[in-house]
Amino acid sequence: MAQLEQIAAPGSEWWRSAVIYQIYPRSFADASGDGIGDLPGITSRLDSLKELGVDAIWLSPFMTSPQRDAGYDVADYRDVDPLFGTLADFDRMLEESHARGIRVIVDLVPNHSSDQHVWFQEALKAGPGSPERARYVFRDGRGKNGELPPNNWESVFGGGMWERVTEADGTPGQWYLHIFDATQPDFDWTNEEVKEEFRSILRFWLDRGVDGFRVDVAHGMVKEAGLPDYAPVADADSMGGGEENVPYWGQDAVHDIYRDWHKVLAEYDGDRALCGEAWLPTLKKTALWVRPDEMHQTFNFPYLMTPWDAKALGDVIRESLDEFGAVGAPSTWVLSNHDVVRHATRLALTDENPQGEGIGPNTPNKPDTKIGLARARAATTLMLALPGSAYLYQGEELGLPEAMEIPDEFRQDPTWFRTNGERYGRDGCRVPLPWEADAPAFGFNETGLSWLPQPSDWAAYSRDTEEGDPLSTLSLYKELLAARREHGFGAGSLVWEDAGKDAVAFRRGDVHVIANLGTKPLALPAGATVVLKSQPFGGADLPVDTTVWYTTA
Ligand code: BGC
Repeated sequence: MAQLEQIAAPGSEWWRSAVIYQIYPRSFADASGDGIGDLPGITSRLDSLKELGVDAIWLSPFMTSPQRDAGYDVADYRDVDPLFGTLADFDRMLEESHARGIRVIVDLVPNHSSDQHVWFQEALKAGPGSPERARYVFRDGRGKNGELPPNNWESVFGGGMWERVTEADGTPGQWYLHIFDATQPDFDWTNEEVKEEFRSILRFWLDRGVDGFRVDVAHGMVKEAGLPDYAPVADADSMGGGEENVPYWGQDAVHDIYRDWHKVLAEYDGDRALCGEAWLPTLKKTALWVRPDEMHQTFNFPYLMTPWDAKALGDVIRESLDEFGAVGAPSTWVLSNHDVVRHATRLALTDENPQGEGIGPNTPNKPDTKIGLARARAATTLMLALPGSAYLYQGEELGLPEAMEIPDEFRQDPTWFRTNGERYGRDGCRVPLPWEADAPAFGFNETGLSWLPQPSDWAAYSRDTEEGDPLSTLSLYKELLAARREHGFGAGSLVWEDAGKDAVAFRRGDVHVIANLGTKPLALPAGATVVLKSQPFGGADLPVDTTVWYTTA
């Protein structure tokens, strides 16, 4: 831990202002050459993250899993899936990250396990009414012979939320609940055995030295008693961000779980942190996840979902600072992750595209890549000037767009299969990274294999190409992260400035930040000296879809 203390002494609550880079291990770097990224691949590329200037990395799941939902279906919470390496590879990756002053957060998936988890296999064998079934949500069906599901809930990935099992004697039996795929049965979080098991899993990774956990589906673990019928409105965001009073999202009792985990983390030194993945309809509700005795951070999805509109963006930033501030927590900021259309594409959408729908060959009115990239760079230049902690998703530092032309036969997301191809799902943001323009699989590995096909024009986005170009998105991110650190922008507060209805503008100390979200150039104040800009421009006017940091004499 010696190097870590250089960036934040114990007790300094590093997570309040950290820039955290999400690694999607399947697609980051592939040392084994089998077409799927792995832990040794991550270790081999850590220097590039050090150069980028991030404080921490969060790794999407690499634990033992049949990979029916890209690892978010865990069969053994205490081991590494052979696809990604071994526990020894994990320890080495952790040590090498710490040696570079980079903290490591792992993904914890407590809402559900894989159906291959030993507990679920035992539950299937043990039969109705057994303690083994009580670890999951098994119920008798409705209808004369239990042939109808216990309620009308619909899975996030499409289709029903219940699957019927065949009992040991071969007869059709009970049903089990799965918010996601049928291979992802939900745990019953009213069960003490489940609670104890997860405390022990937390300790397993804390003992190995991880700095925290990103908690998957942190709004779904507790269901309303009685499991009442509920149907979402048409075209709702699939993770539940849009609606109040959903019986499987945001139930009050989830908070008891986090209070319990908070205590477990507090037993350890070094400021370990929890970050919740909770899609909730309002920021007021989201802030409940980070009250002082609960999680340390939670993702700001209302911010992520905000369209490219000055009023909406200003409002969500104000409200975030107010609501998180009211509970004494930092706001977080995030524009992309492995579940949403990459922001270099999303910010140029002209049609509705609810979370989970994705973009594919038959999507009409595809977003303009050039406009999307300009807005993405402007959005990030604004985001990295905000107080709080920011999350980056691998590849956004290269300006990667969504891969919009993945042929059907390569699709992997369960959403695609469970909706019979009606929704493309999330594969388009998960394509392996381009590292070198002229190498096989653009340097993702040495064999040229890739679990999702990389678009042929991605050489232009490869890291080695962008490294040599002072105007590249990679150069912009490096500049932004260095300047954010130099000015201490992760901490403190901001002062709002009025620059008209098409701009978002504020001041951080001596530095003014202004983003033009309108349709016409905006005049910068006389005497403005530009410190940093999201894209090159000449003259005194700020072009559309551009953000600058500037000072005045
Ligand atoms: C993860 C998704 C995953 C789901 C089910 C999410 O919120 O981020 O990628 O499919 O949980 O585990």
